[in-house]
Amino acid sequence: MTKKYDIAVLPGDGTGPEVVDEGLKVLEAAAAKYDFELNLSTFNIGGDHYISTGEILPENIVDELSKKDAIFLGAIGHPDVKPGILEKGILLSLRFALDQYINLRPVKLYEGVATPLKDKTPEDIDFVVVRENSEGLYAGAGGCLKKGTPDEVAIQESINTRKGVERCIRYAFEYCRKRNKGKKLTLCGKTNVLTFAFNLWERTFNEVAKEYPDIETDYAHVDAICMWMVKNPEWFDVIVTDNMFGDIITDLGAMIQGGMGIAAGGNINPEGVSMFEPIGGSAPKYTGLQIINPIAAISSVQLLLETLGESAAAVSVESAVKKTLRDDLKDVAAGKMGYTTSEVGDIIVNYVKSGVGE
Ligand code: IPM
Ligand code: MN
Repeated sequence: MTKKYDIAVLPGDGTGPEVVDEGLKVLEAAAAKYDFELNLSTFNIGGDHYISTGEILPENIVDELSKKDAIFLGAIGHPDVKPGILEKGILLSLRFALDQYINLRPVKLYEGVATPLKDKTPEDIDFVVVRENSEGLYAGAGGCLKKGTPDEVAIQESINTRKGVERCIRYAFEYCRKRNKGKKLTLCGKTNVLTFAFNLWERTFNEVAKEYPDIETDYAHVDAICMWMVKNPEWFDVIVTDNMFGDIITDLGAMIQGGMGIAAGGNINPEGVSMFEPIGGSAPKYTGLQIINPIAAISSVQLLLETLGESAAAVSVESAVKKTLRDDLKDVAAGKMGYTTSEVGDIIVNYVKSGVGE
């Protein structure tokens, strides 16, 4: 029997909808080629919906999303809405409500894409960051006193639970084993200063490591990781880290792989519903101009397919993306693709249809 997947589509704000359109074109082409069906339902949440209705993320939408097989998200962020409202109210709320405790962010330089790192090639830049996605500084713990006065106190606490840290580290070890590339897992922390939080991370990492004798382990402080990601990115295979450090180092990662137009990510609940998104923002000033690179969204579709277990389709999408970057697009890193957003989608669709990479 043909498999059928219920996919929720959240186009979101700004250029989100136009890159999502391209992602969906590719997803549909992959479904036709690899013989599975899609049942897509679109949810219009985001800045415009908030401005017109005052609604951010209604409870019934969360309920519906929790019954899907996967979620495909464009971008959240609107110039007329105060920063933080939509990010916290939609993106972070969904990550938390659906317990998507992993944020998986591959950093991979494809042939044909310029990296700002002199002398580094696709062989040197190919690693994955496993970012904890449900705790840390993102937990929203803290508060303030005497706001707006000279005596103001602001506290923002990092919450790290044994359970949360362990499930993330375990996922990273498993992922590293399955990836089967360098078989090396690096813990990124700050044990010299954040002596409570990263002591828990380090102890847990070392304990879990005993169950994975085939995986080489390594530790580096987050500041040093930033340095090495620039100087020696080839040292990394899989990096595991907390929510905040993961947020920061993956933007650095996106830059060395050719920019936000390429970088994709998955918010993963291995036991539940996962959500895939290009990691860049909604770029409101470019809305409708068809100049945004849809590859980050299309690579998110690849991650979505991998998570659904549609590996052949996922491989085909990646091969199509690779070929497009190598043979068709011009200077992607400089924001000059030589094609419109939708033309890039068409090129990739054609490669998927023709079975490139099979
Ligand atoms: C990301 C984004 C979000 C984050 C923002 C928009 C809340 O930067 O997905 O990396 O900090 O996690
Ligand atoms: Mn970020």
